[in-house]
Amino acid sequence: MKKILYLIPFLIFIHSVAYSQAILIKPKQILDVRSGKLINADILVESGVIKKVAKNIPIKSEYEIIDLRDMTALPGLMDAHVHLTGNTDLKGNEGISESSYLATIYGVKNAKETLMAGFTTVRNVGASNYSDVALRDGIEQKAIVGPTLLVSGPPLGITGGHCDSNILPAEYEYKAQGVADGPWEVRRKVRENKKYGVDLIKYCATGGVMSKGTNVNNRQYTLDEMKAIVDEAHTLGMKVAAHAHGLQGIRMAIEAGVDSIEHSSLIDQETVNYAISKGVFLTMDIYVSDYILGEGAKNGIPEYSLEKERIVGKKQRENFKMAFESGAKMAFGTDAGIYPHGKNARQFKYMVQWGMTPIEAIQASTINTAELFGLNNIGEIKESFDADIVAVMGNPLDDITLLENIDFVMKEGQIIK
Ligand code: ARG
Repeated sequence: MKKILYLIPFLIFIHSVAYSQAILIKPKQILDVRSGKLINADILVESGVIKKVAKNIPIKSEYEIIDLRDMTALPGLMDAHVHLTGNTDLKGNEGISESSYLATIYGVKNAKETLMAGFTTVRNVGASNYSDVALRDGIEQKAIVGPTLLVSGPPLGITGGHCDSNILPAEYEYKAQGVADGPWEVRRKVRENKKYGVDLIKYCATGGVMSKGTNVNNRQYTLDEMKAIVDEAHTLGMKVAAHAHGLQGIRMAIEAGVDSIEHSSLIDQETVNYAISKGVFLTMDIYVSDYILGEGAKNGIPEYSLEKERIVGKKQRENFKMAFESGAKMAFGTDAGIYPHGKNARQFKYMVQWGMTPIEAIQASTINTAELFGLNNIGEIKESFDADIVAVMGNPLDDITLLENIDFVMKEGQIIK
């Protein structure tokens, strides 16, 4: 008996070496994104979780030491609005002939690029055939490497709306998978998406830029339909993201109780106040406009979309500034997929140009977006949080564009880069 007791500490030691995978990260400094302060401390990671954040953590022989002495560590970045599936090199409407299988394979590539760029959790808002569910599961099951994903599956939309596909003539009888009209039909579609494994519901509340024959100013869905979508989704434990550029659609979506307004381009002061009073997040993708107007024509974006972008883009930036200065809750969302994946961080510069300080832009992409996602274990370098950690040379508070070149990426304790 005595002999066995004597062996116990030894056995525990063996166990911790073999299974706990302790990593000690020694950065120059850590950006505490909540306070905005730079702190001098080490980070001890064990079994994918941040175990300890403290000055001069004593080194033990079983630790793997990561020396980041020239770098600033910060929590993994998040993007609330991406489209990972599909080949982004396809021009114009070529995507219509891409199978879901091939789109998913490109999703694997795009997911990896996104993670390599320091985005450790992203939300995929729109994919057909649940290719995004497969991608999420493949990542979760460690068959492939990518960010933690929250996925919507096919976005709900009215017949002929932005979330339908209006390219083929009537004889093809084609409609997008998320098309549903009327309160009961939209409830059924929400249930179906839940059945096939989505995390959240996305729907189109107005027309859009990249769709044929839709008007960004016009609302799509009635208030009744929007309320039915939100009620059904919330009942099933899912958040709702509403695509909306025009004012009427934005207002209705807020009234219906959505969790975030995507794009929010033509929002006005009164509606910003309304969003604030209802705790609704605004996700304003203010980088992508430059990409669309700069590269769009040569990438085959049709003239009807460019025309709409010229109306929406500038207004959206002005309204971003107005909304932020009014105290709106701002998440970080970029519409990656329109521009190449992995370039998500380009948007930070725009957010700083349009009214945020660097720390406020970083907060949007960490603590704010984590709150929108309903996840309380990511977004900070903090004990018991998931070890999603990135690091850059220099200080991103002095130069926000440093985030465009992330040198170190750890996801759930695994060193990716
Ligand atoms: N997916 C959006 C749409 O087609 C993209 C909007 C991009 N433009 C912008 N200014 N955010 O409507």
